[in-house]
Amino acid sequence: MPKTPAITVHDALPMRDRVVLITGGAQGVGRGIAQAVLGAGGSVMIGDLDVDAGHACLQEWQVGHRAAFHKLDVAREASVRRWVDAALARFGHIDGLVNNAGIANPHQGPLHELSLETWNRYLGTNLTGAFLCSKHALPSLATARGAIVNIASTRALQSEPDTEAYAASKGGLVALTHAMAVSAGPAVRVNAILPGWITTDAWQKPQARQHPKLHRRDHAQHPAGRVGSPEDIGALAVYLLGQQSSFVTGQHFVVDGGMTIKMQYV
Ligand SMILES: NC(=O)c1ccc[n+]([C@@H]2O[C@H](COP(=O)([O-])OP(=O)(O)OC[C@H]3O[C@@H](n4cnc5c(N)ncnc54)[C@H](O)[C@@H]3O)[C@@H](O)[C@H]2O)c1
Repeated sequence: MPKTPAITVHDALPMRDRVVLITGGAQGVGRGIAQAVLGAGGSVMIGDLDVDAGHACLQEWQVGHRAAFHKLDVAREASVRRWVDAALARFGHIDGLVNNAGIANPHQGPLHELSLETWNRYLGTNLTGAFLCSKHALPSLATARGAIVNIASTRALQSEPDTEAYAASKGGLVALTHAMAVSAGPAVRVNAILPGWITTDAWQKPQARQHPKLHRRDHAQHPAGRVGSPEDIGALAVYLLGQQSSFVTGQHFVVDGGMTIKMQYV
């Protein structure tokens, strides 16, 4: 079983005394963001459907009172309300929210076979989930003059065939980002990150963890020379959550090793 990279501690600790809520924070990109916040001196409340994964994070991180886990289904409003209340009860304030939880598989099959149920499941988790978490965290975020970061995808901008539900959910997230930035400002800033190919095999719960199965050509096709990692997303999330980005809101940032700027004719 591969080891998930450990928390990298930043000297400047830009997130010191800040509390960040991260949906889907127990595995994959969300875990990478959680570790980046912890490494920058902050505290995290991770919410995830997968309870085993949440408990594994707390056990492996060993950061004491700076990390908490509460079961969360972002698609259910009652669950979101309980999660936000649990964070407030535990930490007393909320300075950041990362809407990361999502059904990450973009392929749903041909449009003429796409069921309304599948469409609603994608939209319910990937888009409505971000709305619900933002809605319930907003009063506390406003008090703290905090920030929201939405994790969308480069698929908000470009597509492969048979990915309508996923692409629509991520495009909706980009629009939700600028809409909320205008409504919630100046108290709360809202930005989005659009990851490209991020390899998450080593960032799953221990029993599901694997060595990434990547070929040389997978790395080589990226202008940056490699496939991305959750740490790449975590680094930008910390910037967007912190005071250094106080003049940045309503924006979306592509983090894809340059894949979307490549012209393709073949
Ligand atoms: N990995 C990539 O290449 C990539 C690229 C672009 C965007 N993204 C986006 O990043 C986010 C995370 O993706 P990932 O690759 O880390 O996925 P992942 O499957 O590795 O992790 C997702 C986590 O979210 C949790 N989750 C799923 N549904 C949930 C729900 N309803 N409520 C609460 N938690 C829930 C899962 O249990 C899991 O722990 C997603 O929004 C995905 O669309 C990923």
